[in-house]
Amino acid sequence: MSVKIAVGAQWGDEGKGKIIDLLGAQADFIVRYQGGANAGHTVKIKDRKFVLHMIPSGVLNDNVISAIGNGVVFDYDSFIQELNTLKEGGIDPDGKLFISPYAHVVMPYHKEIDKARESARTTKIGTTFKGIGPAYQDKICRCGFRVIDILDKEFFAEKLKENIEEKNFIFERLYGESEKFNYDDILSDCFSKFEIIAKYVKDVSILLDEAIEHNKNILFEGAQGTLLDIDHGTFPYVTSSSTISGGVCIGAGINPTKITEILGVMKAYTTRVGNGPFVTELHDEVGKFLAEKGGEVGATTGRPRRCGYFDSLIAKYAVRINGISSIALTKLDVLGSLDKIKVCTAYNYNGKILHDFIPVARVLENSEPVYQEFDGWSEDISNIKNYEDLPENAKRYIEYIENVTKVPVSIVSVGPERSQSIFKD
Ligand code: GDP
Ligand code: IMO
Ligand code: MG
Repeated sequence: MSVKIAVGAQWGDEGKGKIIDLLGAQADFIVRYQGGANAGHTVKIKDRKFVLHMIPSGVLNDNVISAIGNGVVFDYDSFIQELNTLKEGGIDPDGKLFISPYAHVVMPYHKEIDKARESARTTKIGTTFKGIGPAYQDKICRCGFRVIDILDKEFFAEKLKENIEEKNFIFERLYGESEKFNYDDILSDCFSKFEIIAKYVKDVSILLDEAIEHNKNILFEGAQGTLLDIDHGTFPYVTSSSTISGGVCIGAGINPTKITEILGVMKAYTTRVGNGPFVTELHDEVGKFLAEKGGEVGATTGRPRRCGYFDSLIAKYAVRINGISSIALTKLDVLGSLDKIKVCTAYNYNGKILHDFIPVARVLENSEPVYQEFDGWSEDISNIKNYEDLPENAKRYIEYIENVTKVPVSIVSVGPERSQSIFKD
């Protein structure tokens, strides 16, 4: 029995989808616990590429049961769309895909509020416009709808009235559009779509409890990353959920004593999509090189990802906050052919040297990276299968990361395919 969490250690897009799919071979259950359709998890299997936003990446493994926990904000349109795409591609998740009745639902007005709020902000976060912030906001202020609430037609029809009135009032007063949301349209849209969804609804907390009882292997699929966490990230440039490992207990209804392993998924360099501080960001040829070679384009929004060197302050922070017990180091192949590779070892904050990450945007915006330089390697490593066969300089780079984080690297990913993975030790 194992209960493992795969959590993003940076600002998302670390390659979680690939690692989850890879580990799916040993998993019985793969479970999302937070976030929503803002996630974009790419899985490449031979000549096919799947980008999953709402459905766990486990769905691509035949023997895995996939589940969406209560902590996710459930986007029913995205779910149905993905379901159809999977079925057209010959993957039928029926009978092995479940949604918690207690997951809050992203309503059409949440997406509109997300867009309107973002365009009205002077300091833009650069959200994905998937309605994530407004949906979590309604959960916290106790006026949101859970899956189970929409399935109760009478209850929903009554409560939706109140909600639409409130949203129309806010929209009109703040953004000058009257009668923006139509009660009848939203009600009938929800009723027809939840007819499709009803059969996937199951209590995920109970499902996992029984799985543990039967010594099954459970893998939790983190979305976003540590620095996008609502509490521990670079606020306000964050998402609205608890992305860190601790979010699993709340977002899946599993107690902390059951967790056996926490895998930090860490890119061999750093990227960020959306706004906010990024100390090691590169605006030079190296930055362009990483973006191009790494194919750094947002899987959800298509926006270019900002690129920079590996930041060991972030890595140490992610280890501390999540309790990472081993690291999956991804995209090491992308660094190949760089003559020199820099790693950030400290920040110079207005003349003061910082060795620990501080999640305060103002501090980060005024910090300069202090670098240590490593020699690069020129060989193409994307087909290497054994750790020993990696170039010495690549091994030195990995060992640096192990030393600075005090955590072993257990997987080195050298390409997007399952087969392009080195299991170390
Ligand atoms: P996620 O959100 O963490 O699942 O990551 P994304 O799927 O948004 O972005 C990671 C991108 O890198 C995807 O296009 C993957 O196919 C790709 N990828 C994952 N691991 C590797 C790797 O080791 N090397 C290379 N070159 N690409 C990778
Ligand atoms: P995966 O799971 C990278 C970023 C957005 C924005 C901020 C808030 O693929 O790693 P939101 O729409 O969540 O309110 O946007 O968070 N963001 C991500 N960045 N990867 C993601 O997911 C992200 N999900 C949200 O770009 O800066
Ligand atoms: Mg992504």
